[in-house]
Amino acid sequence: MTNPDPFSTARRMRFWLLALLILVTGGLASSATAGPREQARRMHDRLVGVPPSEAVLTDMQNLIAAGQPIQAAYRAMENPIFYSSSLKNFVSPWTNQAQTIFEPLNDYSATVIGMIRDDMRFDRVLSSDMIYVGAPGTTETPYSHTDNVHYEELEESRADLSNPAVLMAVTQSGLPGAQLPSSATAGVLTTRAAGEEFFSAGTNRRMFRFAAMNYMCRDLEQLKDTTRPTNRIRQDVSRSPGGDSSVFLNSCSGCHSGMDPMAQAFAYYQWDDDMERVVYTPGQVQPKYLINASAFPMGFATPDDTWTNLWRHGPNASLGWANGPGEGNGAKSLGLEITQTRAFSVCQVEKVFAHVCLRGVSSQTDRDEVERIADVFEADNFRMKRVFAEVASACMGN
Ligand code: HEC
Repeated sequence: MTNPDPFSTARRMRFWLLALLILVTGGLASSATAGPREQARRMHDRLVGVPPSEAVLTDMQNLIAAGQPIQAAYRAMENPIFYSSSLKNFVSPWTNQAQTIFEPLNDYSATVIGMIRDDMRFDRVLSSDMIYVGAPGTTETPYSHTDNVHYEELEESRADLSNPAVLMAVTQSGLPGAQLPSSATAGVLTTRAAGEEFFSAGTNRRMFRFAAMNYMCRDLEQLKDTTRPTNRIRQDVSRSPGGDSSVFLNSCSGCHSGMDPMAQAFAYYQWDDDMERVVYTPGQVQPKYLINASAFPMGFATPDDTWTNLWRHGPNASLGWANGPGEGNGAKSLGLEITQTRAFSVCQVEKVFAHVCLRGVSSQTDRDEVERIADVFEADNFRMKRVFAEVASACMGN
């Protein structure tokens, strides 16, 4: 008491500050070098959307510690919630104009979920004669071309979509009451859900726009090219909007010169508002292709469903089209034209990246990783689960 240390309080403060500093930096360092258990937990959370069970966590931890993160991701994807929730949220925005995840399960989303589950070649998603339905007995109401009740029942009954005996692949052309012959089916493009959103009213250009957005990750604003020939632009597009032909040449033509001859593939399809189903009229161009002809009578009058890809040349050649004529008839071959691009492969990886890594592709390192995984996707039969596993491994932290 007679000789109090005048520095003791300050010293004690310094000691605690130092201790705190060590604690904080140590904590940061350890989170930057998360161990296999932390990585496993993060990987599971991001893939499935829920924490793993103790047993799965331990399995995944051991696989990661053994240098097998891809296998760890596959272990996580065994969880039925991966299909009913994570994948459903992944695909639902592609099935509607508003791009919302708040959509009941439908034939479009169920088909993508099933194709991913069964390792179906995903480059056939816009061309297959395929659709996933609930197995007989799983719902009260069977598939219908005129409503979505079947899928809503599947979802509300919390059916196990990871089980092939519950959600199964059948052909679209073989569905009871099918109108589409196999040659007119085009994967998810010809599902009921897609028809309702993208063939209803309008001029069927919307189906092409959303296919480009969802499967090449490009909206038309990014595809605009005013250097293409304008001879396939339909009659409804004025060549001098507001009396100004430069607007047509500098704006309208940028989208319509490429889009109109692609959307011609859908000339025989229509969403019938009264029947609430997709109808197909082979050999008979839908009247919506010929409306408002007086806007420019010299414009293109659609005679059939021949599509032509004018974007194989010019700036959009960079999408990486496969070898081929760049022309065909109907939706199926147009679907293949889209899914056989390099842009398709990269786009699927980018979508998975955003879904699993919870952020966009930003750095050069990210971009290199996306290109690498797109190569793997193409080399491994276009299996989407492989893409999920590769991406999850790339952003599990280290
Ligand atoms: C960025 C791309 C883009 C540009 C630029 C563009 N359009 Fe379009 N246009 C579209 C798309 C996409 C649709 C289909 C919209 C839908 O149905 O959802 C469309 C539809 C139309 C339609 C049919 C409308 C209907 O009844 O459905 C007309 C007419 C049209 N555009 C005229 C024009 C004119 C004139 C211009 C220039 C002033 C123009 N467009 C510029 C992309 C574009």
